[in-house]
Amino acid sequence: MKYPKEYLDEIKTRLKVSSVVSKTVKLKKRGKEFVGLSPFKTEKTPSFTVNDEKEFYHCFSTSEHGNIFDFVMKTQNLRFGEAVKMLSNLAGMQPYTFSKQDQERENKWKLYKSICNNFSEFYKNELFKNEKSIKAKNYLKKRGLSGLEVKNFNIGFVTEDLDYYEKLNKDFDEEIIKDTGLFYFDENKKKYISRFRNRIIFPINNISGNIIAFGGRIIDDNKNLAKYINSPETPFFKKGSNLYNLDKARKLSNKFDEVYLVEGYMDVIGLSKNGIENTVANLGTALTSKQIQNLNQFYNHIIICFDGDQSGYKAALRAAENIIEELKPDKKISFLLLENNFDPDNFVNKLGKNNFLDFSKQNSIPIHKFILEHYLKQTNDSPSSKAIFEKKLREIAFNIKDNYVKKYTLEYFLEHISELTPNINSNYSKNFKQTVKSLAKTKNYYNETKSLKSYEIKEFSFLYIILNKPELIYQNFHLINNVKLYSNENKQLYNEILNQSENLSNLNIEKLKVDKHLIDRVINYASIKHLVSKYSNDNDKILEIFSEVIQDLKGYELEQRILDLESKFSKDLSEDTFNELKALKKLQKIN
Ligand code: CTP
Ligand code: MN
Repeated sequence: MKYPKEYLDEIKTRLKVSSVVSKTVKLKKRGKEFVGLSPFKTEKTPSFTVNDEKEFYHCFSTSEHGNIFDFVMKTQNLRFGEAVKMLSNLAGMQPYTFSKQDQERENKWKLYKSICNNFSEFYKNELFKNEKSIKAKNYLKKRGLSGLEVKNFNIGFVTEDLDYYEKLNKDFDEEIIKDTGLFYFDENKKKYISRFRNRIIFPINNISGNIIAFGGRIIDDNKNLAKYINSPETPFFKKGSNLYNLDKARKLSNKFDEVYLVEGYMDVIGLSKNGIENTVANLGTALTSKQIQNLNQFYNHIIICFDGDQSGYKAALRAAENIIEELKPDKKISFLLLENNFDPDNFVNKLGKNNFLDFSKQNSIPIHKFILEHYLKQTNDSPSSKAIFEKKLREIAFNIKDNYVKKYTLEYFLEHISELTPNINSNYSKNFKQTVKSLAKTKNYYNETKSLKSYEIKEFSFLYIILNKPELIYQNFHLINNVKLYSNENKQLYNEILNQSENLSNLNIEKLKVDKHLIDRVINYASIKHLVSKYSNDNDKILEIFSEVIQDLKGYELEQRILDLESKFSKDLSEDTFNELKALKKLQKIN
């Protein structure tokens, strides 16, 4: 959903940059600007400036700059929509509502939220005031939780007998109460029954910190009851995309590169209590790609640390296979395997923060290694077991979405696969050398193209079409107005083409006064060569291809201009440069 420009502009006019910034950064006036210590870096001398007139901030030590939306997004790790909501509220404006459906959902969300908050107040109060909660209090103490953790994680307790539905129903409709998943309907008794009874309650927040679901733990061991129960999926709680504690953990991504992903409530709370607060949990559900994507918005390195028992290991392996396909070049996923039935909670409580962090540093293994080592352990000497090993690893590598990560993961696997066939390998390398010789020419070609810049290759395509279809381009000369080439050689050739012929009407390639080598390069490397020959009789199609090539070239030109302006702006900080920059970025978005 896109906010209209007027709405965003109004927020900007109502809020001075300095007043937004000064909520988190201490600013001093200096001339027309304000200065302060950079929020993006620890520093002693101020290098951060704010200019209200020009509506932007600029940090000289990190080159970060932008408007109020950028500022709150970066400093508070908000997404754009959240930044708009927060700032419009600060500006005293109504939140922007989209369509009628959005409006309905928004209304429903408000009621849903207030029921969750109502329940949260209720069970917190029960823990403190209801005398039947004494056992729960003792239990929490026994687990090492102080009042601080109880407060920070909004923990509470509900007793067995509550007429909570009836209480809620005074203020809320049955329909919306049902939506929260707090009750189920008992067909025999013909009434709504609380899902959570006689349990410690842990609220689950969404990414913005609103309570959307709950988990409940029993306090007496009882084999007939599930140790934990959680809210079912609701319109506002999707298990596969939510992560417990992400609302808090994301705020620390300026401080840490890595985040710990653990199984349970108590693991998050235990680690946090011991000062490791960059921790989230998937609450025992199967880890999904969506959860990894959400986490990757804030952290580049995810360390998955499940319980050191068999089920934790199995869950870790399943997670690894599920999410390796999401791996991106700039992201990292590691596994930290605990032993002796430790889970992160009792590990850190027993051995402390530093031991946990040291253990993590020394024993985290990257996801591809974890998978490989697992399957290696599974493989015995039989041919079919080895065959399964190879098939499985190839399959896993092939599912990786990013082509580069895929390539190198496969390479890593293949190296180990080939260790299983030492004899074939020695024959293989003999054969391989022979083929390589005959491929020398291809290799040359490959090396040459590798040294070419991507825009150069696009320029070859542009010139190739002109050289092949001069008449057609002559008739559509307007297309090449304002086209700019960047490589000197191609520019030279292009100018000669235009000079020698009158606007291409009578182009004669033989007569071009340039080094023949320049023309050869175009003919060799133009990537659209086969397309031009395929559609050589279809002028419309050729023009369509030509226009696409031009579009690409212009995109490159725009990118260059933006880069130039950005470096100019970081030096002169002038309003003109900034406005020009803004306009170009907008243009880039449209294209
Ligand atoms: N879980 C669940 N239902 C269960 C058991 C577990 O939903 N019957 C989820 C819970 O979110 C729990 C997580 O899986 O936090 C991990 O389970 P487990 O390791 O058994 O829980 P711990 O966090 O170790 O809990 P505790 O220390 O309280 O036993
Ligand atoms: Mn556990």
